Amino acid sequence: MKKESGNNGVKQKSASNGSTNKGGMQSSQLMELFITELKDIYWAEKALITAIPKMIKKATSEELISALESHLKETKEQATRVEQVFQSINLKPVGKKCEAIAGLIKEAEGIMEECEPGAMCDAGIIAGSQKIEHYEIASYGTMRQFAETLELSKAVKLLEQTLVEEKAADVKLTEVAVSAVNVEAAELEEVK
Ligand SMILES: [Fe+2]
Repeated sequence: MKKESGNNGVKQKSASNGSTNKGGMQSSQLMELFITELKDIYWAEKALITAIPKMIKKATSEELISALESHLKETKEQATRVEQVFQSINLKPVGKKCEAIAGLIKEAEGIMEECEPGAMCDAGIIAGSQKIEHYEIASYGTMRQFAETLELSKAVKLLEQTLVEEKAADVKLTEVAVSAVNVEAAELEEVK
């Protein structure tokens, strides 16, 4: 499909000629930073598509399993959405290793290796997943703001959509933790 000159809301002028924003930063520099963030989150979403199934395998609580399963489905859609953001600024989707998410995944895997399946392990999976969610919320929030400043209307919409999903996933994990998992884990500790 041939794209029209409208360019999906990309402001070529501000993106390419280095015009200055209110804060004094050149928009070309902000665009560079925006693209760096995009590459980072693209890598992160892809890594999570591999990591979440391992959490599902190790989880015991039905509620946690279903929360993780639906978030896995969402994560795949989110990766596609990041690709759409790349396309909206006429770039090919490329990932760059996100050391933060790599570290958080490693940490979560470490917890899972150390514990037997059960309430305690579930609580550990939730803790790890929520740390990941918070990173993503910060990242999508920042990117959405960058896109807004750069007047990339299509990117703003796509990033906002994912931001809403990530926040909801975090709330869901808190609910799972409060409703069953942490209580059971605490009871288990008391018995010891
Ligand atoms: Fe995500």
